[in-house]
Amino acid sequence: MKFLICLVFLFLISNGFTAKRDANSLIQKYCKQSSKNLETYFYEFCIAALKENHESQKVRNNKEITELGTKNAIANLTKVKSIVEKIVNERKYKSRLSAKLLQDCLKLYYRGYNDLTSGLKYIKVRDSLNFSFSLANAKIAPRMCEMGFNGDNKQISPVKKENDVLYDMINIPYNFDLNRFT
Ligand SMILES: *[C@@H]1O[C@H](CO)[C@@H](O)[C@H](O)[C@H]1NC(C)=O
Ligand SMILES: *[C@@H]1O[C@H](CO)[C@@H](O)[C@H](O)[C@H]1NC(C)=O
Repeated sequence: MKFLICLVFLFLISNGFTAKRDANSLIQKYCKQSSKNLETYFYEFCIAALKENHESQKVRNNKEITELGTKNAIANLTKVKSIVEKIVNERKYKSRLSAKLLQDCLKLYYRGYNDLTSGLKYIKVRDSLNFSFSLANAKIAPRMCEMGFNGDNKQISPVKKENDVLYDMINIPYNFDLNRFT
């Protein structure tokens, strides 16, 4: 009986290891595809960002990784949005112009959030075209937010770094060729 329990236990452990190894090699393949034509840092960024979420060790196919990448992007956007909300609510902005620009950023984040959640729905129904559209739209949020500051206004956004990372986070699922859904 003891022996049997041991056997079952060993089986479960080795199964767990195999799943983990499979997930990691899947993530590597996925990031290789997602980073082609991009700067070299993106591959490492993609792997690190996906692995940061423990759910990544359970992914079994490209569809699940794309879903995970999109969920990570939603979480990231929500964090950047709350940083901006805090600055606005606590009146920590540098000028009235900056306050107005940050309000514009918040509107962009709300839209970006909706685009990303639509993206999740399109993954479920394997609609890769609309998925691309939604994520391309979502990428507008961090870009336009920064452009408001950098354009004619010549201001520096207090969330420049966060917006740059958010843009890359959305690129992780966006750059993956969804026609390769498995
Ligand atoms: C967004 O995600 C990246 C990668 O996980 C992380 O380094 C960054 O701190 C996140 N941004 C915010 C504002 O939390
Ligand atoms: C997906 O995109 C097409 C245009 O390419 C559009 O006609 C269709 O309504 C979209 N589907 C959904 C569910 O929004």
